[in-house]
Amino acid sequence: MPTMLVTGASRGLGLEMVRQYGAEGWRIHACARSPDAATELAALAAGSGGAITVHTLDVGKPEQIAALAAELAGTPIDMLVNNAGVLGHAIERQEPGAFGTIDYDNWMQVHAINTMAPLMVAEAFVDHVAASEMKLMFFMSTRMGSITVLDEGNFYPYRSSKAALNLLVKAISIDLAARGVRTLAVHPGWVSTDMGSAAAPVTPPESIAGIRRVVAAYGADETGRFFQYDGEELPW
Ligand SMILES: NC(=O)c1ccc[n+]([C@@H]2O[C@H](COP(=O)([O-])OP(=O)(O)OC[C@H]3O[C@@H](n4cnc5c(N)ncnc54)[C@H](OP(=O)(O)O)[C@@H]3O)[C@@H](O)[C@H]2O)c1
Repeated sequence: MPTMLVTGASRGLGLEMVRQYGAEGWRIHACARSPDAATELAALAAGSGGAITVHTLDVGKPEQIAALAAELAGTPIDMLVNNAGVLGHAIERQEPGAFGTIDYDNWMQVHAINTMAPLMVAEAFVDHVAASEMKLMFFMSTRMGSITVLDEGNFYPYRSSKAALNLLVKAISIDLAARGVRTLAVHPGWVSTDMGSAAAPVTPPESIAGIRRVVAAYGADETGRFFQYDGEELPW
């Protein structure tokens, strides 16, 4: 069975990925910045017969990324899942991030977690991915970061951090093509996690079931593309 590493596995979409791929029998390195607080993840790991290992990883801490990459040196990782992400003050303060109201310090934090950290994780784990069968780097994006489909403003920090992530997904696909390493960006839908809120129409199990179909349908020669969880291809 393949091996995956997923960031932000404590709750929401990351946790559901661990649940569904774990049920399929994948070997999973599930990362959480506070494993002690991630009780649902701990329960999944405890019942996995050793297939799921929980690691401490705050993706905003470069030394933790480097330490985990070193700890897992020599371990092939078929699918590297950059899932951890933040919406910024849009949640905590109910500020939509509109023109004229931007908190620039918060924007830098959002950019650090949503854009820089995924690249740092990709750089740290490229050898692990290149040594695997699937050689896939997966990035949890959003259609809110697509310039082509943009039809409203607000959420400037979040949108721009994911638009920049999308560019990286494309650039990494070009730079790593010679090593056979592929990239895939996915919009999970508007999902009823803490980030998506209870108003969201898609549940985490529905979203991840769709994402698993997208991953399974992604050909071994495909790279640098952007799909929605239901299989629709999205423009950058
Ligand atoms: N929900 C949606 O509608 C939606 C739509 C489009 C895209 N997305 C994307 O999907 C991904 C997952 O979102 P979600 O809906 O599952 O959100 P969520 O329920 O708020 O979960 C966010 C996850 O990211 C982790 N995280 C945040 N900062 C971190 C850091 N510095 N280091 C490590 N982990 C960190 C959280 O860990 P803690 O528990 O430690 O805070 C949590 O596990 C994000 O990239 C998000 O942008 C979501």
